[in-house]
Amino acid sequence: MRGVILAGGKGTRLYPLTKSLNKHLLPVGPEPMIYNPIHNMQASGIKDVLIVTSTEHMGDMVNLLGSGSDFGLRFAYKVQDEAYGIADALRLAREFAGEENILVVLGDNVFEKPVDYFVKNYETAQKGKGARVLLVKVSDPQRFGVAALDEHKVVEIQEKPENPKSDYAVVGAYIYDKRVFDIIDHIKPSTRGEYEITSVNNRYIELGELQYDFVQGRWMDTGTFESYYVANKIMYEHYFKKMGIEKPE
Ligand code: DAU
Repeated sequence: MRGVILAGGKGTRLYPLTKSLNKHLLPVGPEPMIYNPIHNMQASGIKDVLIVTSTEHMGDMVNLLGSGSDFGLRFAYKVQDEAYGIADALRLAREFAGEENILVVLGDNVFEKPVDYFVKNYETAQKGKGARVLLVKVSDPQRFGVAALDEHKVVEIQEKPENPKSDYAVVGAYIYDKRVFDIIDHIKPSTRGEYEITSVNNRYIELGELQYDFVQGRWMDTGTFESYYVANKIMYEHYFKKMGIEKPE
């Protein structure tokens, strides 16, 4: 399996923090935000990782991350010229993925616990075929892709619905087989003009090939100041605990 970290987009909701700095390079606890998806790749046993970011921030990204050798990984980079959506950014990974399955993580998603269990379940329960998503119960589902569930299956995912059918958000970590790129070629932009990852996931649901896990530990999408604050707090708490430092008041 290969890894893809999507770190393009504009990050406008965190202005002015993101006016000159890419959102994914902002600190979350003692590390830059993008280290969290990188740790997910390491924990999942993935060695080759493609990082997709925007033109204006590619230089900073390469300065920070380099070849990947500091992390025991091999990094490749691709530029997304315009922020046409998550599925549009993922399209750029076609050649990189080749025949392999991919773990895709959004660069602004922070996981308290690495998602290696998710990758293992894909290999065992799905034998490396189809798509797998991660769900978490949230109090503000309108902000996310929301999964409608029957007993054991996701029956539909709606992107940022006004009237959500459940409290289960689809978080920004996805596993796909190589068919994902043909699926992306056939989806249409949404009303907000983006190629939505939710459209890709709904296609796998139609094929009867999408399964899910629940997120273990806490999870944060750092797209707003509130969630960015919480992510910082949690990741600093872990750091202080690990270092045996008494928590500053
Ligand atoms: O965080 C989970 C949510 O992420 C999901 O529940 C939604 O289904 C999914 O659409 C996404 O929603 P957001 O509104 O949070 O997506 P956002 O536009 O903030 O983009 C999330 C990350 O994806 C961002 O950190 C960078 C990357 N991205 C985004 C866009 C629009 C790109 O690389 N290229 C892009 O064009």
